[in-house]
Amino acid sequence: MNYILFGPPGAGKGTQAKKIVEKYGIVHLSTGDMFREAKKSDEKISALMAAGQLIPDETVVEMVQKRLQKDDVKDVKKGFLLDGFPRTLNQAEALDGMLKKENIKIDAVLSIYIDNDEAVKRISGRRVCVCGASYHVLFLPPKQENVCDACGGTLVQRTDDKENVVRDRLTVYENQTKPLIDYYKKAGILVEIDGQQNEKEVFKQIETAIKAEAGKLGS
Ligand code: AP5
Ligand code: MG
Repeated sequence: MNYILFGPPGAGKGTQAKKIVEKYGIVHLSTGDMFREAKKSDEKISALMAAGQLIPDETVVEMVQKRLQKDDVKDVKKGFLLDGFPRTLNQAEALDGMLKKENIKIDAVLSIYIDNDEAVKRISGRRVCVCGASYHVLFLPPKQENVCDACGGTLVQRTDDKENVVRDRLTVYENQTKPLIDYYKKAGILVEIDGQQNEKEVFKQIETAIKAEAGKLGS
């Protein structure tokens, strides 16, 4: 099973991705996580991310292409979950080309919808740990303020989670990424998920969508 998790900043892609990979044993491929790692040694990427702008398509496509060739993706026969990619029409077309070559197909694009006010509320309250754990000061607080439950590390705010940058990221989403909804609707693989619900309810909708897809494959 191969899925794309799609949605605006703060929709809950990373949160739901963790639950999906845990339940279904597929590989989580988050371009945001890959670039957060890459920005440590690349000032250009770091500046673009801090400003809430997209990394150029060629760089993104090359990185994803390499990642899809790695053993952990190729070995896990169960499949993968793309989170944060594709984000432009060029990226979507490049992905189609890559998958066609490998004879791989995307089962569904799980498109999580939330409105802008909810996105700002969620992102401004997000706190993350270097170990990868993510919290929310109101919706998912750690047991001890600013301390990671998982590893005891200090929680920080992502540099692109400041409110002015969040607004820019939402504009970038609206202009460059949202048009992909129509692209995948036309391809007949878009499944809409109401992301305004709590985490558990959103996951239930995702489980239902995956079950329906699996049912189609079995029939
Ligand atoms: P990326 O890391 O992909 O960021 P994003 O898409 O802006 O999404 P977020 O990670 O902010 O939100 P999310 O949907 O994962 O929400 P989360 O689950 O954390 O990209 C970052 C940057 O990298 C881009 O700006 C760009 O520069 C670059 N980049 C990445 N991919 C690229 C590409 N393909 N092309 C070009 N550039 C690229 O949840 C958010 C908060 O809400 C958390 O605190 C969580 O606890 C809380 N929460 C989650 N679900 C719920 C719920 N149901 N109810 C209440 N709270 C909730
Ligand atoms: Mg994320």
